[in-house]
Amino acid sequence: MKIIHTIKELREWRNSVQDVAFVPTMGNLHNGHLSLVAHAKQAAKHVVVSVFVNRIQFGEGEDFDQYPRTLEQDAEKLAKLDVDVLFAPDERELYPNGVQNYFVEPPALQNELCGAFRPNHFRGVTTVVSKLFHLVEPNVACFGKKDYQQLTIIRGMVADLNMNIRIIGVPIERDADGLALSSRNQYLSTDEHAAAVFLYQQLQHIAQQLRSGSRDFTVLEQAATQTLTQHNWRVDYVSIRDAGSLNTAQTQDTKLVILAAAHLGKTRLIDNIEVDLSAA
Ligand code: PAF
Repeated sequence: MKIIHTIKELREWRNSVQDVAFVPTMGNLHNGHLSLVAHAKQAAKHVVVSVFVNRIQFGEGEDFDQYPRTLEQDAEKLAKLDVDVLFAPDERELYPNGVQNYFVEPPALQNELCGAFRPNHFRGVTTVVSKLFHLVEPNVACFGKKDYQQLTIIRGMVADLNMNIRIIGVPIERDADGLALSSRNQYLSTDEHAAAVFLYQQLQHIAQQLRSGSRDFTVLEQAATQTLTQHNWRVDYVSIRDAGSLNTAQTQDTKLVILAAAHLGKTRLIDNIEVDLSAA
């Protein structure tokens, strides 16, 4: 596996190959990321993984400085999976002026769900992902369904800006108890870690009620919010949406996704479950 830090070297390598799948990450790789790599390997001949902690998608008071940087261990994991290139630019390489003046501005969805609590987060994501797409020029790119809103926004960007890149959404990897894998799980204390699966359990409970015919979306959202709050969670949102557009769910919708974000102690966790009622 080649470890590349500069745009120049990446472009030289890219000019020498065809058929590339790309997995953008912020590093601190866990089995969720490794599953993205496995899907990438199935999708194309060559695989590029980027590791870059992207300052412009973090808001004030968020964990940019604290975000775990573990490049050496990440490289070991990727080498074992026979990844072709690990692209790990430093900040000056991607943001040579120290600032970004041009942004890829997503539509109104960027201000809903997580976007309502993380102003400018999604335009930071779309901007860095489109920069990385220009550099890596992938045929295919893999994103986790764990960040469901991010995946939806990236799909929209690729379609709207006529990017010739196939986007693969990869299912969430979970611990044995059901907790969705996330780099932020390591901020949890041992007790919090054991309690964290409660968020997923609430989503499962809503999914079950939807499958049993309930369409009182607001009632289901409010009940889960109340239960989480009673168990010492600080809830940002619990929301039932159309799985494709992420518009607020309508009673006739059959492909739904239930999304939630909530704080346990100092850690903000997100999770979601897709529910296909057409199959019921
Ligand atoms: O999902 C992530 O890790 C990041 O948002 C991404 C896509 C690598 C952009 O920085």
